[in-house]
Amino acid sequence: MSLHNYSQKFKEIETPFYYYDIDLLKATLTEAQKQLGKGPYQIHYAFKANFNRRILNEILQFGFGADCVSGNEVRKAIEVGFDPQHIVFAGVGKTDKEIKIGLQNDIFAFNVESIEELKVLNELAGALGKKARFALRINPNVDAGTHEYITTGTRDNKFGITVTELVAALPLIRSLAHTEFIGIHFHIGSQITDLSKFELLIEKCNQVQSLLVEQGFSLPHVNVGGGLGIDYENPKDHLMADFKGYFDRFKKDLHLYPGQRLHFELGRSLVAQCGSLISRVLYIKPAANTHFMILDAGMTELIRPALYRSFHYIENLTSIKERRIYDVVGPICETSDTFTKGMSLPITERGDIIAIRSTGAYGEVMASHYNLREVAPSIYSDDF
Ligand code: LLP
Repeated sequence: MSLHNYSQKFKEIETPFYYYDIDLLKATLTEAQKQLGKGPYQIHYAFKANFNRRILNEILQFGFGADCVSGNEVRKAIEVGFDPQHIVFAGVGKTDKEIKIGLQNDIFAFNVESIEELKVLNELAGALGKKARFALRINPNVDAGTHEYITTGTRDNKFGITVTELVAALPLIRSLAHTEFIGIHFHIGSQITDLSKFELLIEKCNQVQSLLVEQGFSLPHVNVGGGLGIDYENPKDHLMADFKGYFDRFKKDLHLYPGQRLHFELGRSLVAQCGSLISRVLYIKPAANTHFMILDAGMTELIRPALYRSFHYIENLTSIKERRIYDVVGPICETSDTFTKGMSLPITERGDIIAIRSTGAYGEVMASHYNLREVAPSIYSDDF
């Protein structure tokens, strides 16, 4: 249902809050599962995108695994009901304590990001009398063409190891007694809308696979990470990511060896469009070349525009007047606390309700209490 239909209800609720359209979430998960299709494929939901309990409960119904990047995410995934046998644990800086959480829970795999980490994993597994399954994260030196802060697969990024390092580490990998090498892992970046970038990853992945086969390794798992982008500019017309285009590329071009399973770690594409940040207009302030629309939500509720200058579509849910140009800003004492500049919106007044769209991923999970702000609550479409 259009957000405009809820404008009167939203007016009665204290703002700001995150609003989630549960029907859209379910429809998106259904579409992702349908396009993934049958076969040796598995989606691990990237917890970092949104670990709101209600959202997780919906995702659980689809039998996806979990992609975690901290010990607390691993704990939470298990606590809410994800099967440890479908949990992967990535991150360049896992602490000993976090590694032990993964070991004690016998998670499916550690996505190991350095040779030093592998040695520590082997040592800690040995001390606990366990054998740790791991995939090595390979840095394929592929530019995903997305924002530099969320590009992860080039030589300049801290993630994974190079193919040269992988080859050099093979004797060590063979010698470790408390670890089991079960796969390779990649993740080239996030918010990738040019799907041809994934072809570069697929090509690298095929090369690494044949290299490992030549060296006598037959690994049961390949994990290509996440990164599928969504349409922030025009969410109304593109409520869903191109799951078909994305999965089909991998199914067609990535060479799987007999018995291999292909894993994906999707975050944003599953949850972004179902969320909106709902806010109230506090003041309208005329300025030299614009009008400032000052909201009661700011970078504390949604940091993406301040951090990456990313665009979120903004709607006034309570005004249908003629349009004017606004700079939409938050109340925080930082100039970067700007949602967008020069946006055409209906003439707006104090008290109007504003929806900032596509905030279901990397929205509430990146909130802060800067300025001692209160944590904004979440409201779900089926609460009404
Ligand atoms: N796997 C790994 C290893 C990752 O690092 C990430 C995201 C994902 C999977 C999920 O990627 P997705 O499907 O969501 O693109 N805060 C940023 C995004 C950071 C993404 C970090 N890694 C933003 O707001 O755009």
